Amino acid sequence: MDCIKVTNLTYQYPTSQQKVLKDISFSVKKGELCAIIGANGSGKTTLCNAVRGFIPGFYKGEMTGEVLVNGINVQKEKMGDLALHIGFVFQNPFTQISGIAKTVYEELAFGLENMGVEPDKIHERIECIMKLTHIDEFRDRDPYQLSGGQQQRVALAAILVMEQEVLVIDEPTSQLDPQSTDDIFEIIWQMKEMGKTIVLVEHKMEQIAEYADHVIVLEKGKVVMDGTPKEVFTDTDILRYHTRLPQCTRIALEMMKERISFSKIPITVEETIRELKKTLEI
Ligand SMILES: Nc1ncnc2c1ncn2[C@@H]1O[C@H](COP(=O)(O)OP(=O)(O)O)[C@@H](O)[C@H]1O
Ligand SMILES: [Mg+2]
Repeated sequence: MDCIKVTNLTYQYPTSQQKVLKDISFSVKKGELCAIIGANGSGKTTLCNAVRGFIPGFYKGEMTGEVLVNGINVQKEKMGDLALHIGFVFQNPFTQISGIAKTVYEELAFGLENMGVEPDKIHERIECIMKLTHIDEFRDRDPYQLSGGQQQRVALAAILVMEQEVLVIDEPTSQLDPQSTDDIFEIIWQMKEMGKTIVLVEHKMEQIAEYADHVIVLEKGKVVMDGTPKEVFTDTDILRYHTRLPQCTRIALEMMKERISFSKIPITVEETIRELKKTLEI
């Protein structure tokens, strides 16, 4: 079943000279992890904002086409009602933190209190999510005093605790070191295991190749590729769109130029080893 369905979406900001999204159509099935990749300025963040109903409502400008989330037209829905279904994690966790809460615990309670959830239930949900995201050790700290990686985990926890079905996550690891990046991906994979439908903007192709169900490539506001990671990363068209390939795919392609044959192009480390063993007959 389609959870997100975007049809012929075209959009221009009030101040931009040209259209930023051009006739975009795609769908994301329930429970799917859909990665959106593409060069800087290709429209990824704008598309995320359209999916969560902030375009054109908040940003104004001209939009045609339609975005349905669980059959609801997000442009016609009140933003407060939409927030019950769709969680959004920004690129910079700093902007996500409310600025009102004095502790991490209060930060997580904030949204739930606004929703009118009962105190017992709030406590229960927060305890569970803090364990899942490994942030209970700084539950009493000021969110602003945490490191970037810790803040990003708090930002994800604050969204998870709301229990929305659909999550839109925009470059959650762009400011993080490798260890914090792994921690964030770990949480995202757990969200997928929980059955969430996830739209993830990310440049780390290795992780996308490993875990995404679906990849969409944007180029200058258009969807230029749409398929499984296998379909997208093994199609050399992708090299035209200023995106990287997973390292092992690149290596395999280079080896093929040197006449080392592979029966199929690998996209993960596991596949590379399997293919190499076949080639080397070991
Ligand atoms: N608030 C805005 N007002 C006007 N133009 C914008 C705004 N935000 C982004 N843009 C323009 O829209 C295009 C797509 O931007 P964006 O969606 O942020 O791309 P990406 O996330 O892929 O880097 C860029 O040309 C950018 O300059
Ligand atoms: Mg962006």
